Amino acid sequence: MSVRALAAKVLNQVVEQGQSLSQALPPAQQDLSPKDRALLQLLCYGVLRTLPRLDFFCRSLMKKPLKGKQRVLHFLILVGFYQLLYTRIPSHAAVGETVNGTKALKSPALKGMVNGVLRSFLREQESLIEQADQQDTLRYCHPSWLVKRLQEAYGETLAAKIMDENNQQAPMWLRVNALHHSREQYQALLNEAELNSFSASDVENSNALRLEKATDVYKLPGFEQGWVSVQDGAAQLAAHYLDAQPGELILDACCAPGGKTVHTLELQPKIKEMVAVDADQKRLIRVHENLQRLQLSATVIHGDASQPDSWWSGELFDRILCDAPCSATGVIRRHPDIRWLRRDSDIADLVALQKSILTALWDKLKPGGVLLYATCSILPDENELQIQSFLQSRSDATLIELSGQYNSRGEGRQLLPNEDGMDGFYYAKLHKSL
Ligand SMILES: C[S@@+](CC[C@H](N)C(=O)[O-])C[C@H]1O[C@@H](n2cnc3c(N)ncnc32)[C@H](O)[C@@H]1O
Repeated sequence: MSVRALAAKVLNQVVEQGQSLSQALPPAQQDLSPKDRALLQLLCYGVLRTLPRLDFFCRSLMKKPLKGKQRVLHFLILVGFYQLLYTRIPSHAAVGETVNGTKALKSPALKGMVNGVLRSFLREQESLIEQADQQDTLRYCHPSWLVKRLQEAYGETLAAKIMDENNQQAPMWLRVNALHHSREQYQALLNEAELNSFSASDVENSNALRLEKATDVYKLPGFEQGWVSVQDGAAQLAAHYLDAQPGELILDACCAPGGKTVHTLELQPKIKEMVAVDADQKRLIRVHENLQRLQLSATVIHGDASQPDSWWSGELFDRILCDAPCSATGVIRRHPDIRWLRRDSDIADLVALQKSILTALWDKLKPGGVLLYATCSILPDENELQIQSFLQSRSDATLIELSGQYNSRGEGRQLLPNEDGMDGFYYAKLHKSL
């Protein structure tokens, strides 16, 4: 099937049917050559990064919006605009291939219409772009509620920078398995494989390497033997901040797919036990896969972190990682669909869920123990305001300072997207008094 037509179908599933890109894209990529797979990914990610602009161009050039069964052709047209504006595909090929997509979408009668809209765009693009640049939502390609929240939190200039970073491609980060190699040793192996990499700037982020160019994981030396994993540099800070010690009982309360569970075990194989809990049964399969590839073990439990009495063994934990469900606004670079799938009203629900998880877990922490709260959000409500309110409500909780706080804006450490090439993330480390 035509790659452009496949892209239109995937985009229709995401934007119109609310599926996530990680659900909709892989099945569409299945039978494609590596080159077409990469093109399909580029088109889907690209259109989602620039959606309101492309929508605006389409609205401006068409008398009536395409609806019902024809809606998928709207996305075919957006795929056409995207190629013309943001790729090096020559315009005659971009138009020709896109128009051909109508056949695969079983709408050959609309070939002329798609061709006409794309050609009008080629003629009128300069003035359309000028008009688009005058509106915030179209300039930043973020929904207005998120533009507003980011501007309120960070001011206009920084918010604009954050949104610009969100529209860039994220680099590929590796986590070197400390049980096999030091970062320097593994970097030498990467050099031998002609893969250039850079160390993270944070001193404690000692297993993190950023690749100059993304690559297939199977090209990474020893991937199948568990020498290395793919994990963003910001997410890798969790296990370092948690700092598990020999003999300790550790809880990873929202663990799936298990990146931080296994990193904690790689850093400290002598803990007493790792209990890894998640409410999503399907996502737990990935935890088992990760543990198996890395030959590590944990007690994996399907359970609700806000209701620990339904799964808790009765022994208080020495350390707890609470990598809470969140808006994922820090990882929009990697998941460009998030901004269109989330609604403003989701934030209050997430804040309430995070609060209930945090409060319930606190009771399962030993006096003298440590809880690391983490999110991949950049919204203060889910982060420093959440922690401020928790600290006000619990006299037995105090904040432990985290290293690398040079860029912090309040309680805990808030990393913004692309600081040192990393994702947006938030950490707060809490100590429970004896
Ligand atoms: C940010 S992700 C965790 C990522 C994971 N810690 C890692 O590093 O691979 C949040 C997780 O919380 C889980 N979750 C959501 N609500 C939950 C609840 N009430 N109890 C336990 N897990 C929950 C989701 O299924 C999701 O896997």
